[in-house]
Amino acid sequence: MLILKLGGAAITDKHKANTARSDYLRQIAALLAQHRQPLILVHGAGSFGHILAKNYGLAEGYQNPAQIPALAQLQRQLLDLNQAVMAALQEAGLPALAYQPSALCLLESGRIVEFYAEPLRRALTLGLLPVLYGDCVWDRARGFQILSGDQLVVYLANAFQAERAAFGTNVDGVLDSQGLLIPQLSLGDQIGQLESGAADVTGGMAGKLAELATLQTARAQIFNLNRLDQLEAVLTGGGPAGTLIQKPA
Ligand code: IPE
Repeated sequence: MLILKLGGAAITDKHKANTARSDYLRQIAALLAQHRQPLILVHGAGSFGHILAKNYGLAEGYQNPAQIPALAQLQRQLLDLNQAVMAALQEAGLPALAYQPSALCLLESGRIVEFYAEPLRRALTLGLLPVLYGDCVWDRARGFQILSGDQLVVYLANAFQAERAAFGTNVDGVLDSQGLLIPQLSLGDQIGQLESGAADVTGGMAGKLAELATLQTARAQIFNLNRLDQLEAVLTGGGPAGTLIQKPA
């Protein structure tokens, strides 16, 4: 099974608040339909969530009552993006089924400590395609906390013993300090500067690599989702795409 993240930066217009790249989502969905396989999708928030999350400190947990309406508004924005993703997938003929992470799991200090996986398991058994997303989730220690799609991907890969986890981003993969692609990376390697979007509350590339440290068995890949040939290579397993991440020996 493959756990695939559709990064928010690739599926939304980062310069326009709450704007999905719907045409591009349709092209992504067509490729997913062409290369059907056991799959769980997780999408990011992009221009739908990060700005509100940053303005109200939602990634820092509960601090003041002004955050409460912002939390509610954030969840609605995320549902709006999710609707655009679901529409593209279903129009491509995929039996996609949306799951709201804040209704499925609990965090403690930002980490998933409870996750109700059975509804996903049953959907997968019947050939459906579960779709989750980065969300604002209840946290036992902090009240609530932003859960990144990246943490979800790694959690799901471990929980479902997936063979592969792939992160579609808006860069070619992990880049070195000269901006050149690192084709293979061991999690123990020292890497210099990493890009991280200014309004990204969940840590950009550095956050992804930190999450990957907890990956148990799956092979991981970070690739450019703005390139459909790269997505196709990920889906077919043919040809290199982005950075392949290995566990240290
Ligand atoms: C963010 O999820 C969720 C928020 C509510 C902000 P991600 O961190 O996975 O989203 P992208 O891919 O960076 O946009």
